[in-house]
Amino acid sequence: MNASLEGRAGFISGAGHGIGRAAALAMARLGATVGVNDLKQEFVEETVAEILRLGGKAIPLPQDVSTRDGMREAVLRFARDAGRLDVMVNNAAWVRYQPLAEITPEVMDRMVDIGFKSVIWGIQAAAEAMDPERGGSIINVASIAAFKSPARSVVYSGLKAGVLGITRAAAADLGARRIRVNAVAPGAVPTEGTAKHRNAELDAKRIARTPLGRLGTVEDIADAICFLAGDGSRFISADVLRLDGGASETSL
Ligand SMILES: NC(=O)c1ccc[n+]([C@@H]2O[C@H](COP(=O)([O-])OP(=O)(O)OC[C@H]3O[C@@H](n4cnc5c(N)ncnc54)[C@H](O)[C@@H]3O)[C@@H](O)[C@H]2O)c1
Repeated sequence: MNASLEGRAGFISGAGHGIGRAAALAMARLGATVGVNDLKQEFVEETVAEILRLGGKAIPLPQDVSTRDGMREAVLRFARDAGRLDVMVNNAAWVRYQPLAEITPEVMDRMVDIGFKSVIWGIQAAAEAMDPERGGSIINVASIAAFKSPARSVVYSGLKAGVLGITRAAAADLGARRIRVNAVAPGAVPTEGTAKHRNAELDAKRIARTPLGRLGTVEDIADAICFLAGDGSRFISADVLRLDGGASETSL
C-alpha cells in the first residue's frame, strides 16, 4: 500500500490515456488533487470524469505541453487553482519506430519536443511552482529502451536514455530545495499508444523472457509512480525504477 497523498497536488502530462491516465486515477485514490493534462480535450474529460466518479479531486488541463510556454502555462495554472504543487509526472509522449535510414526531421522533432524537451520544461515549471520549504517529487517516465534498445528505436531509445541523464542532473540541481527527481523505466505495457506496435507473437516472446511471467499493466506503473510521489520514497532521488518484471536484467 502506498503512502497517502491526502492534501497533496500532482500534475500529470498525457493523462488522457494509458500510463498517465492510470497514474492520475491511482494518485486520486490516494487523496491527491490531480492536474489532468492531455493534448486532447476529450481524453482529459474522460479521465477527469472517472476521477470524479471515484470521489476524487481533479482539475482539467487540456494543453499541448511540448513547448516551454505551453508547459509553464498548464503547470502554473494548476498550482494556482489547486493552491500548491507537490508532484510532477512527465509522462506524455508521441512515439514512432522507424528504420534508421527512414528517420525524418519532422518525426524526430515531434518525438524530441514532447519526449525530451518537454521533460526539461516540465521540471523547470514544477521547480518554479513548488514551495521552496516543502519541496516536492518529480517523476519522469523513461523506458526500459534506455537500457535495452530494440531495433528501429534510435530516436526513442536515445531520448529515453537522455531522460535518465536529465533526471540525475535535475536531482543534483534541485536537491537543496528538497525536490526529489526520479524516473520509472517501464517495459512493454499494453496501452492505446502501444497497440499498433504489439502482436500476440511478440507478447509471447516478451513473456517468455520475463521472470515474473507476464507483461506489465498500467496499474503496475501507476503504483510505482505513486511510491515515488509519496513519503515512502523520501530519501530516494536521482534514481530509476526498472518496471519490467526483471526481463532486462536476467536471461532465462
Ligand atoms: N506503454 C509502454 O509499453 C511503455 C513502455 C515504456 C515507456 N512508456 C512511456 O510511458 C509514457 C506513456 O506511454 P503510454 O503507452 O501510456 O502512451 P499513450 O500513447 O497511450 O498515451 C500518451 C498520452 O500523451 C498524450 N500526449 C501526446 N502528446 C502530447 C502533448 N504534446 N501534450 C500533452 N499530451 C500529449 C496523448 O494524447 C496520450 O493521451 C510515455 O512516456 C512512454 O514513452 C510506455
